[in-house]
Amino acid sequence: MPEAFSPDSLSADKADRYRELMAEVRSVLDGESNRVARMATVASMLAAAFDRFFWTGFYVVDQEKPAELVVGPYQGTLGCLRIAFGRGVCGAVAQSGQSLIVEDVETFPGHIACDSRSRSEIVIPVHDPAGALIAVLDVDSDRLAAFDAIDREGLEAIVAWAFATDPSASTLS
Ligand code: SME
Repeated sequence: MPEAFSPDSLSADKADRYRELMAEVRSVLDGESNRVARMATVASMLAAAFDRFFWTGFYVVDQEKPAELVVGPYQGTLGCLRIAFGRGVCGAVAQSGQSLIVEDVETFPGHIACDSRSRSEIVIPVHDPAGALIAVLDVDSDRLAAFDAIDREGLEAIVAWAFATDPSASTLS
């Protein structure tokens, strides 16, 4: 069993909070190689650590329709089930392989409004250890301009550790 995770004990400073959260995620996921379990755990811990996060989860590359994302583990209100590559923010990130921060979703051409309360978002590409795109991490906020470069760096680091490193190799001493 993992030790209890208490988001209240994380630092108020955002960069510190991401660093501490990374350590918690590593501890909880150590030795667990199942990808669904890893995605569900990352989504849960991120949503618990940041109350600005209104919808936090993964859209996974569909193995049967490789130019389409299908919803994966998430925390939040009902999300769209499928997003084609190139559509909305998630689809743009799946196509480009680059993270995107959108300060006001209404200004993003083709934005998909799964929930009209969503005002800003950040989407991070998720790669496997071989470098193949397997998913995107989508975090939406009900506040405008809720995300900045500190969020991008923090989320990219967590995603890189959780999905682009070999999960069978324990990194804890
Ligand atoms: N915000 C996403 C759509 C998915 S959800 O809002 C859960 C997008 O435009 O890609």
